[in-house]
Amino acid sequence: MNTHMRFPDVLLLLEKAATLLSVRLEKEPQNLVLLEKLGDVCRQLGKLGKAGELFDRLSELDPSSVKAAHLAAIMNQRQYLSELPKEGIEPSPFFIKENFLPQILHDDLLSFALENEDKFTPSPCLSKEMGWVVRPEIRNSSQTPLSVDLMDRIWTFVRPLLPDICALLRIRDIPDKKGSWYLQSYGGGGFGHRHTDDLGGVNRISMVYYLCFPQKTFTGGSFLLYDRDASDGGACPDGNTQLPFVDNLLVAFPSERSHAITLVNCPQTGIRYGRLAIPIHLG
Ligand SMILES: [Fe+2]
Repeated sequence: MNTHMRFPDVLLLLEKAATLLSVRLEKEPQNLVLLEKLGDVCRQLGKLGKAGELFDRLSELDPSSVKAAHLAAIMNQRQYLSELPKEGIEPSPFFIKENFLPQILHDDLLSFALENEDKFTPSPCLSKEMGWVVRPEIRNSSQTPLSVDLMDRIWTFVRPLLPDICALLRIRDIPDKKGSWYLQSYGGGGFGHRHTDDLGGVNRISMVYYLCFPQKTFTGGSFLLYDRDASDGGACPDGNTQLPFVDNLLVAFPSERSHAITLVNCPQTGIRYGRLAIPIHLG
């Protein structure tokens, strides 16, 4: 994927590739290369269920392949206990849970957003040289601290999931709640460039709770979780798994993995039309 292309154009290319690969795969359903390619395109399109099916099929047809078993486990959110691939692209494990919070808490968070709309300030990002500073060329969103009551209520739903999340993300020792949490708003023009959240090992698990108002008019704002090179842990330029925005969704991933938020398009201004997120970092 060319990083200089607009994300919607990248998606169009991926959709075309998916169509062509699907046609070829129908004629050659046992073709391992086609299966892997189509699975890879599907995960970049955010079609995680389809990618999971394809990688399961790949693993069944090629049971000796460590890579296929690993890909199938990641895309289907299954704990992976075997040896990790030693080379090639290594997608990040992730955890997603739809309909995460009960409606009443979800709606209390929306009420909090409206009550505090005038208190949102530009989100800072961490720079090695300057510490936490607002750099709208790197990250364009605004935020306000969440109340302790809302943090505690959300935590009662996060905490029971942590054993499963840690197992999936291969993280030892279940971390505890810490720090302040913020409600972030991404209106039109909002985005987040590629970064990691680990702060040199301070954070191990990153989570984001996504929500929006029923009146939302935005598009975009997808979450991209980038691959790394299995041989040395280094960054791969563009390969990623897309986790599309869904209202009332919890996402978790290892804080050391690089991620980005694609450009948000929103014709109206006002918090009720855009994308809302609550990032949670655990050490
Ligand atoms: Fe982040």
